[in-house]
Formats: sequence, structure tokens, C-alpha cells
Amino acid sequence: MNTITAAITAVGAYVPDFVLSNKVLETLVDTNDEWITSRTGIKERRILKDDTKGTSYLAIKAAEDLIAKSNINPAEIDLVLLGTTTPDMPVAATAVYVASQIGAVNAFAYDLQAACSSFLYGMSTAAAYIESGRYKKVLLIGADKMSSIIDYTDRATCIIFGDGAGAVLFEPNYEGLGFQDQYLRSDGIGREFLKIEAGGSLLPASKETVENRQHYVFQDGKTVFKYAVSGMADVSEKIMERNNLTKEDVNWLVAHQANKRIIDATAHRMGLDESKVLVNIQKYGNTTSGTLPLLLNDFEKQFKKGDNLIFAAFGGGFTWGSIYMKWAYDKQ
Ligand code: UT7
Repeated sequence: MNTITAAITAVGAYVPDFVLSNKVLETLVDTNDEWITSRTGIKERRILKDDTKGTSYLAIKAAEDLIAKSNINPAEIDLVLLGTTTPDMPVAATAVYVASQIGAVNAFAYDLQAACSSFLYGMSTAAAYIESGRYKKVLLIGADKMSSIIDYTDRATCIIFGDGAGAVLFEPNYEGLGFQDQYLRSDGIGREFLKIEAGGSLLPASKETVENRQHYVFQDGKTVFKYAVSGMADVSEKIMERNNLTKEDVNWLVAHQANKRIIDATAHRMGLDESKVLVNIQKYGNTTSGTLPLLLNDFEKQFKKGDNLIFAAFGGGFTWGSIYMKWAYDKQ
């Protein structure tokens, strides 16, 4: 029997309609379009305006888009994994509700949280289930309603984040395509630089924590930037070396969209031509768990069967890493 590899066989995505532009942010905090564009590459982001809807809404829409485009029967899905930092509720897992809503009635489901690396780590988990032969269809979704945890009076964070979701289906491949290698890292030193302090077991939510705005994202941007630039470039270089990939061999860099300058630094270290670097940060900002699958969805038509893709991400925790995949299909 041939070795089983884990390939992405379908993608889908969803972003809400409401556009929050740099111009509008200028009216909320002391900032300007020129600063945001030159420091981050972001021009606008999407926001889920409906207060009655959480991350599950985005995840369901992305999964439904994938199901409609690929014609798969949701009842055949074995596992629904949801990478998210903004679950609908601390308990119960959002993935479980999503699975039921999309008709994945025979699946089990759970959430996976690793800040901006949630989707990357989820790829590793999904691939391992497929490679082991245990499951045949694993739906991995990355979704975040970042606007629910952002302080729109804090210019250090509100200019960066947006809402969005993407989904991919992992299935067995017998031609050696799909998942090839991973180099995943984490370091607890990061927890003081990017966090939501309150609302967990260490500091449960109270009147004081709300008054102190500790239920919002706090980021020491400069420090995170420093670690992200070296971290993402290091792992991307490492995975190329380990797999004897030259810059010519790499067809696409699929990097977490946190800051255009971090993406550029990673591409530079890899020696990649700009044309191989996927970027959509200008449209969506940093959607946390949504960035990688949103890139796949936006650029799917350009990928060719056998193309070498390097995924890279860096996020709170710190969590970071890279994954090497061979693309498994041509889009008709
Ligand atoms: O996805 C998870 C991982 N997250 C990241 O990778 C994000 C990493 N960090 C970053 O992307 C960048 O650090 C930021 C975009 C958050 C900030 O850019 P920066 O170039 O590191 O700016 P800075 O924090 O060093 O601030 C430079 C100056 C400061 O003013 P002074 O002290 O030099 O007078 C800030 O007060 O820019 C000021 N500033 C702003 N000015 C206009 C900070 N935020 C803003 C703003 N608009 N929104």
C-alpha cells in the first residue's frame, strides 16, 4: 500500500461586508492612513457588526462556502477542528456548534487555540489524523471575531485586527502530495507581551477588570515585532534547508498577515521574489486564525498541482512555525 499523505482538497472563506477603513479609524483614535499603511501595509479590515453573532457565524459561513464549492457531503466529515482565539463562549467549544450547524452530523469537533498560530498548528493536527489512516475527511476552520476583543480607543491594536474566516478540507493522498514537513515552536516568554489579562482562571472577569479594560487585547507591538521578524524568518529558512529547497523550488510563501514588514523580512531571508509572496493584508488586516486560509482562498486559482508552498506564522504565547506542503490539485 502507498504511504498516505495529507492533502488540502478544497478551500472556502468568508469575511463580513462592513469595511473599516484607515480613514474611519482616523476619527476614532489619533492615527492616520499614511502611518498605518507604511507601518503595517493595512488599508482596511472587515468587521462583523451584528452584536448577536459570534465567531461561529464566520466559521459556519466559511465552511458552507467550502461545502458549496466542493460538493462534499458534510455527513462524511470525520472531524471538525476550529482554530480560534475568540470562541463564542469560554464553554462550550464553538467547533461543536459549527459542526452541527453545517450538517457534519457524524463528526466530532473541538477548538484549538494558539493565538495567530492556531490555523498553522491545526494543519499539523489535521494532517496527523489523516496520515495515521484514522480519518478520511478533516475540516479545519480558522475563524476570529477580533472586533469582540479589541479596544477601539487603543491605537496600538485597533488599527491591526479584523474579522474573518477560512476553511480547508484535508483528505488522504497517495501520490506524495500535501503535507511534507513541519517545524513548530513555542516559548512562554511571550505571554507578557501579547495577551488578554482578564477573563481566565488567573484573573476572572470582575467589575474592576472591565473598568481597567483588561478584557481587551494588550500588545507590546515593538517587542512582538522583533520576535516575529526573527522567528518567522528562522523557521522558514530552517524548513527550506531541511527539505533541500532552493529559492527557485519554492513557488509560494503563505505567511500570517500581521504586518507587511514581517512578511517582507521573511521573504527576504528566504531569497524569494516578490511575485511568490501572497499578500492580502491590505484588505483584511490581521484576522488571527483566518489569515492563512483566507490567503489560500484568494489565491487558489494560481496554485498548480505539485507547487511547493511554505506556510509560516507567528503569534501570541509565543507560538510560531512553518509547514511545507505540495499543492494537490489544479483549480478548474
Ligand atoms: O499577529 C500576532 C503577532 N503580532 C504582530 O506580529 C504585530 C507586531 N507588531 C507590529 O506590527 C508593530 O509593532 C506595530 C504595527 C504594532 C507598531 O509599529 P511600530 O513601527 O513597532 O511602532 P511603535 O510601536 O514602535 O511606535 C512608533 C511610534 C510611537 O511614537 P513615538 O514614541 O515614536 O513618538 C507610537 O506612539 O508610533 C506611534 N504610534 C502610532 N502613531 C500613529 C503607535 N501606534 C500608532 C498609530 N498611529 N496607530
